[in-house]
Amino acid sequence: MNFVLIGPMGAGKSSVARVLSKRLGWEILDTDRWVCLEQKCEVTEIFAKHGEKFFRERESAALEASAGWQELIISTGGGIVLAEKNRELLKKIGFVVWLTASEEVLYERVMRNQRRPLLHTANPRDTLHEIVHSREGFYKTCARLKLDTSSNSESEIADEILKNANFP
Ligand code: S3P
Repeated sequence: MNFVLIGPMGAGKSSVARVLSKRLGWEILDTDRWVCLEQKCEVTEIFAKHGEKFFRERESAALEASAGWQELIISTGGGIVLAEKNRELLKKIGFVVWLTASEEVLYERVMRNQRRPLLHTANPRDTLHEIVHSREGFYKTCARLKLDTSSNSESEIADEILKNANFP
């Protein structure tokens, strides 16, 4: 059993992963972090140096690395669902939770730093809208549970996840 957090950038996956990890005493495997450790640089640099396709390959490798382990909180990058093989694997490796928030909230959160290369565009607000909408169907096919983090604390979200997964 693992918990897998999917959803768009700014949905709060990493923060909720930290709360779940503390509550359960389980390790976190964060796919972005895994790729950054492997490549020894930040996501923006990986996109700039090697391109998105390379990042996606390494992101899939990170997800594959989590398969076979138990009692992990797997926190994924927003684009993990783009590859069909990842969508299949996500469903197999754990209880998949789709975290989301209103677009206003997502935008406000992601604009706090410059860490999302896909939003380095002339109009990041429109880009975010396109990205969020184009992936909704994919998140939906993978997730057992969908939660909106716009106005709930990370702790409340963690409660809800554990309740829905019938965790004591
Ligand atoms: C991406 C989301 C990012 C990171 C990369 C690409 C995406 O992760 O993987 O910038 O395609 O939505 P977060 O969802 O943790 O921001």
